[in-house]
Amino acid sequence: MDKIDIEKIRNDFPILKKKINDEKLIYLDNAATVQMPKEVLTACDTFYHDAYSNVHRSSHTLAIKATQIYETVRKKVQKFINAADTSEIIFTSGCTASLNLVALSWGESFISAGDEIVITAMEHHSNLIPWQQLALRKKAKLKFIELTPDGRLDMNDAAQKITSKTKLVAAVHVSNVLGVINPIKKLASLAHKVGAIMVVDGAQAVGHIPIDVQQLEADFYAFSGHKMLAPTGVGVLYGRKYLLEKMTPVMYGGEMIEHVSRFTSSWAEIPFKFEAGTPNIAGVRGLGAAIDYLNKISFQTITEYEQELTDCALNALKKITALTIYGPLTSKERLPIFSFNLDKIHAHDLATILDAEGVEVRAGHHCAEPLMTDLGVIATVRASFYIYNTEKDIDILVEAIEKAKDFFNHGN
Ligand SMILES: Cc1ncc(COP(=O)(O)O)c(C=O)c1O
Repeated sequence: MDKIDIEKIRNDFPILKKKINDEKLIYLDNAATVQMPKEVLTACDTFYHDAYSNVHRSSHTLAIKATQIYETVRKKVQKFINAADTSEIIFTSGCTASLNLVALSWGESFISAGDEIVITAMEHHSNLIPWQQLALRKKAKLKFIELTPDGRLDMNDAAQKITSKTKLVAAVHVSNVLGVINPIKKLASLAHKVGAIMVVDGAQAVGHIPIDVQQLEADFYAFSGHKMLAPTGVGVLYGRKYLLEKMTPVMYGGEMIEHVSRFTSSWAEIPFKFEAGTPNIAGVRGLGAAIDYLNKISFQTITEYEQELTDCALNALKKITALTIYGPLTSKERLPIFSFNLDKIHAHDLATILDAEGVEVRAGHHCAEPLMTDLGVIATVRASFYIYNTEKDIDILVEAIEKAKDFFNHGN
């Protein structure tokens, strides 16, 4: 395996050279959005300079070039997640849009009163509210798989909750709060045994671990570009062909039709029937460049390095007295996303002090309010790492937390 060349990687990310509040930028908000390498910035810029046009409409040279670029990325995404066919790749505006599409289309058609939808207690609102609202509309029952005390999915509970009434199981692949990697294949097999479908929120997994939707046995897999080195406003919904073919569109307009008359319309083939309107073409180009960049480094290198960062950060954070860490305290089946609170100090106050030191973290409920309630808190601070972060960043984070601790103690 190639050892990661961290200096070379850091040089690829121009923003990392910036100063924040006169301090070196330590960017630890990667679970919100990761930074983009020069390759991705250049790819988007070049598209705007050399090929900017609409797709699947006009027949002039520039439009053909734009369409080729767009469809080349669809093929790249198919390979990247090992989908069986390019028609299974739908470009969306992001993970939220992808999950809502499944709920509004598959859910509206195939969930009925009395059916059960099973999700987990660690879902981001994007993979909770679409199912909650679907259940309310359809008079279906929403059930939650609970967590073990160390913040992992309780698979015994999963086996109890998934029953012959279950029609859909939806789970996050990697928790944006706890960092835990969920056993999706095992969940999918429980779901399939009872004839339910498996929907996966891959927002925090893609770009960190290799994704093989066929091996995972996912029926739908949703993710966002901006959490895997691509720009905001572009994402993907993978869906099995036979399911997508049975589904009706939820957005209507240009691009998604076969024929339209005054009073009736028919739909284009998949994936186009789900891509109404002009898509984020430059964003899609950026997504393609992001995939190339990740493949160049290789997932073996990325996962090994993230494992090292996880071990190192857990060791360092565990030594801070009065710090409560939420989620598993070992690096097994876990990514470097750490949520914590410092005794009696509000998460936002701690994040403000860290920001003054140039350490950019997020404080809040992380769009997972029900999980916060289960943890008995209203907010946490979250430090999340990516391939350009270093062990030095961990040292600086720890120093900044210790500084905050002193500051608040002095204030008492
Ligand atoms: C686990 C998880 N799911 C879904 C989302 C939603 O992603 P987006 O806002 O890009 O649609 C996020 C974003 O933070 C997330 O962390």
